[in-house]
Amino acid sequence: MTVADIEETYRPYGGNSQLFTSKQPELILSGPAGTGKSRANLEYLNYWAMNYPGARLLMVRKTRRSLGESGMVTFEQKVLHPAQGVRFYHSAQQYRYPNGSILAVGGLDKPSKIMSTDWDIIYAQEATELEEDDWETCTIRLRWGGLPIQQMIGDCNPAQSTHWILQRARDAKTEMLETRHEDNPMLFNRDGTMTPEGERYLSKLDNLTGVRYARYRLGLWVSAEGMCYEDSWDPKRNRINGYHIPKEWPRYMAVDFGFTHPFACLWAAIDPDGRIIIYRQIYITKRLVEDHAKDINIVSGWFHRLPKDHPRYKDSPAEWADPLPRAIICDHDAEDRATLERHLSLYTTPAHKSVSDGIQAVASRFRAAGDGKSRIQIMRDCLVEKDRDLAEGKQPTCLEDEPEVYVWDTRQGLKRGDQPVKENDHALDALRYLVAYFDLVPSTVKYSQRIY
Ligand SMILES: Nc1ncnc2c1ncn2[C@@H]1O[C@H](COP(=O)(O)OP(=O)(O)O)[C@@H](O)[C@H]1O
Ligand SMILES: [Mg+2]
Repeated sequence: MTVADIEETYRPYGGNSQLFTSKQPELILSGPAGTGKSRANLEYLNYWAMNYPGARLLMVRKTRRSLGESGMVTFEQKVLHPAQGVRFYHSAQQYRYPNGSILAVGGLDKPSKIMSTDWDIIYAQEATELEEDDWETCTIRLRWGGLPIQQMIGDCNPAQSTHWILQRARDAKTEMLETRHEDNPMLFNRDGTMTPEGERYLSKLDNLTGVRYARYRLGLWVSAEGMCYEDSWDPKRNRINGYHIPKEWPRYMAVDFGFTHPFACLWAAIDPDGRIIIYRQIYITKRLVEDHAKDINIVSGWFHRLPKDHPRYKDSPAEWADPLPRAIICDHDAEDRATLERHLSLYTTPAHKSVSDGIQAVASRFRAAGDGKSRIQIMRDCLVEKDRDLAEGKQPTCLEDEPEVYVWDTRQGLKRGDQPVKENDHALDALRYLVAYFDLVPSTVKYSQRIY
């Protein structure tokens, strides 16, 4: 194919344009945030679907839910044109083209649906979220034979320097195409000057710190340094796929207040082995505590706790409602606590806030116990709503984004282990309060503590 074939509405530049000419069986577009990687992959899929009747294409992410928030939106809003007559079929989870081509979508957390059939091209969005096994399982399924090529393609922002994708590229199993912000015409004019959108977008990325700046602004594959949870946090071990939690497992909540910084609320269940399972979270900026209280009531199914004039108010909780938490462990801000209590009609418990022992306690729960599992498990995609501003600026948007950027303060003669930098710690603080409640607060204090 020549680039001219698709140029009428879209034109790829730099590394993105190499995708359209390379015949490698495995290709990954790597680069900082917003260089046009996903757009290029989606345009590529659309090109094949349009021009080869009967093509079978698949787009995956680690979870199906995350795909709905990202890849599908760009595909529908930017890539497809109404005149193409492409429709999304919900029950089959696929876009169907009038010429018989299909583009299916799926999550690798539920692989049986998508991995039981064969495909021509599989596109993995945010491929760094995948395990190498996921990637290889996909490649085995590339044998439909409807196109002159079979390809496994993907895109990602750089991750740690030991990541399997980088290793695979070094081993020449996968071709890695580097992309730059200058490749995206929305950000840079062809003469190399920045567009107004480029100025706005890149100034957001310039606010990042540490490893996120290196990866999302500069596009470097670097590992985090000086992480407080360096020896304990392991996303592979500490995150799990979602499942339904039995009603009888005790529930707890933990809250860290914030307005300019994110407000974080974690829902936890304690499994029969005493593990903390984080099964839902709010992580959002610029919202008032009383509005958080309403959101908490709604997502917990406590419709009867909403104000009577609220459109979602009901006189009883939902059938699926969460059991009431045994404790809501909170940051100390007296006014915020009082507001939350008033709007939830529930009491809160002030957190045990000392930092060093709290970090130690969380770290020991992140580590593998005798059974190989950690004593804290965070369900994938359990975020209620993604904060758009944070997501656009590539700031952490959820609990599991924080450990990599939560680092020891080594300024002014401080040593690792003394105190953390007070950044990227919102949901981690809530988690620390929760863990301290179980592992650090003596039960005599715990049960007498209601007063502030
Ligand atoms: N060649 C291009 N022409 C026009 N718009 C583009 C082009 N490449 C990217 N964009 C737009 O720039 C934005 C960011 O692109 P995206 O593919 O999401 O970036 P990435 O996946 O690298 O983070 C999207 O709105 C996309 O439509
Ligand atoms: Mg992308």
